[in-house]
Amino acid sequence: MSKIFISCALPYANGPCHLGHLRSTYLPADIYARYNRMVGNDVLFVCATDEHGTPIAVKADKENKKPIEVAKRYHDMIVRDVESCNISLDNFTRTTDEAHYKIAQDFFLELYDKELIYKKDIRQLYCENCSKFLPDRYVEGTCSFCGADARGDHCESCGRHLEPTELDDPKCLTCASTPVIKDTYQYFFALSNFQKDIENYISNNDNLPPNVKNYASNWLKDGLEDWVLTRDMDWGIPVPLDEAKGKVIYVWGEAFLGYISSASQWSKKSNKKWEEYWDEDVIHFIGKDIIYHHAIFWPALLKGYGCKLPDNIYAGEFLSLEGEKMSTSKNWVVWISDFVKSFDSDLLRYYLTINAPLNKDTDFSWDDFQRRNNDELADVIGNFLHRTFTFTHKYFNGEIPDYINPSREDKYFEDALNKTPSLVGDLIKDLKFREALIEIFKIAKIGNKYFNDQEPWKAVKENPEQAANTIYLSNQLSKILAICLKPYLPKKADEIASILNLENSNEWKDASVFMPTGHSISKAKPLFKKIEDDVIEKEKENLYENLVSDNMSDLITIDEFAKVDIRIGQIKEAEKIEKSNKLLKLQVDIGEKTIQVVAGLAQNYSTDELLNQKVAVVVNLQPAKLFGTDSEGMLLATEESVALLHPDECNVGEKLM
Ligand code: MF3
Ligand code: ZN
Repeated sequence: MSKIFISCALPYANGPCHLGHLRSTYLPADIYARYNRMVGNDVLFVCATDEHGTPIAVKADKENKKPIEVAKRYHDMIVRDVESCNISLDNFTRTTDEAHYKIAQDFFLELYDKELIYKKDIRQLYCENCSKFLPDRYVEGTCSFCGADARGDHCESCGRHLEPTELDDPKCLTCASTPVIKDTYQYFFALSNFQKDIENYISNNDNLPPNVKNYASNWLKDGLEDWVLTRDMDWGIPVPLDEAKGKVIYVWGEAFLGYISSASQWSKKSNKKWEEYWDEDVIHFIGKDIIYHHAIFWPALLKGYGCKLPDNIYAGEFLSLEGEKMSTSKNWVVWISDFVKSFDSDLLRYYLTINAPLNKDTDFSWDDFQRRNNDELADVIGNFLHRTFTFTHKYFNGEIPDYINPSREDKYFEDALNKTPSLVGDLIKDLKFREALIEIFKIAKIGNKYFNDQEPWKAVKENPEQAANTIYLSNQLSKILAICLKPYLPKKADEIASILNLENSNEWKDASVFMPTGHSISKAKPLFKKIEDDVIEKEKENLYENLVSDNMSDLITIDEFAKVDIRIGQIKEAEKIEKSNKLLKLQVDIGEKTIQVVAGLAQNYSTDELLNQKVAVVVNLQPAKLFGTDSEGMLLATEESVALLHPDECNVGEKLM
């Protein structure tokens, strides 16, 4: 038995969780944690909310609240989200916890005493209008490396960490004025001292997956530079030095310690030593956007402190939504709390795993989610289990029948069954979660084929021994599914186990032990249902209807506005869309052609009164599908009262300037 320390990247407490969080971090970590517990390893699985830093301070400023109020609100939501998906964390704390402050400050002091943190005069951006320094996201501008829009400390486009002065054309986020450069001092972490150590760490660590190795090696080529580890801000952990009044530790200089503070909080509750887990095996699960921080910065901090480095880092790739990048500001996102209102979280866990290879971004699409649920979970797994269980009851009194004189087909299938648990387990151990799930599906498909080929419904009359063998082995596969699916679909797997009366078989090795003849099982019940089209259409409708154009206060350039092609059109046909109470399908004449537009007008306009009305239409939108109907444009109307604009004096086909 070994001890394993597993962590998930700390989510910022500035918003609830969406599907992307689950896909890149929580879900892989949870599958790994659950599997390891099942093979008898002693797992410590921790996380916390990351509550300092500018994202939360900026949000609090906007809402006129204290940062801690914002953080508490989202902490509570995140806990609820994580629990609703059955992420089996042993502890979840907050970086505003008192114990975390102490751990982070002690860590800082240790590095300061070793002269790995040092004081230096620097020049920083200062907003004279707001009378404050502008750390990190308090300033926006253009990345001086790649030219993309960037916020203070990070360019999303090229992935670089940016010093504030590496931003071109900076603007104060609060008041939009141009900041000045002012002399101040900050404390630096001597990251450059660790170039050789980190090079060794990355190249000698065979565990590290290719994406982590590649990113890290690329960063290392550029040569490591020292990091500014403090900020002039009110919100954060105070620098524990008398001489440094008003300065706080940079959020990335303390957030990592959340792994430790969460673990040590757990230690207090459980009376076990978290250090024993850390010393044996540490794996961090993160999203790929923070590989730099975890593969370079954090190991250097640990090395400086004199602590063992993490053994492995799993960096999950991103998730897009219906082919587009997710965006919380545009509300182009599916929140976990919304998802679990309509669907079992196990279905999401399934979809986000089967659809998500380690080294590729993946897309969440409602149609594909429906397809995989219906064709895979319901048709393959659900169908197999249902046939097996009902058959066992109908012909064998609900008991596992005899297994006598197996045929060649029986032996072949038995052999495949015997191989499955270790095959799946080895893949999970190697962090190949999707591949392991594919193996489970393969055997379920083989099971369905075997069941069909053996035709037990006929054999039961003509060759009862053969029918018994078929049902014997089919039940054994059901048991394998109950156990091997557990890391992925914990609730569904438990339901299968409970039908098989195997509530106590929680260990991986149980999967290789066949149930004896005579073992009785409970009545079958439907485990996986198909999802109907209208349910999925509703979700899509919600998504598109709630899509908001970027925050109104964000100014756009005249060029951006000029991209919007608005024409005067005339409605030529209007009809209701079945199953939707809001949407209408319209044919709109825009002069050069007629386009089809799906519009949410049904509650405010009848189809008759719309006929021949003149309207203003955006005609160069990306086409979308709503309730199975293509939409090629958007009518201009008010948001709350849903009143169409009436350009009655204009000519059809005219273009707005
Ligand atoms: N809050 C950070 C993010 O979402 C992750 C912090 S992980 C930590 O990018 F370990 F450094 F805390
Ligand atoms: Zn300002």
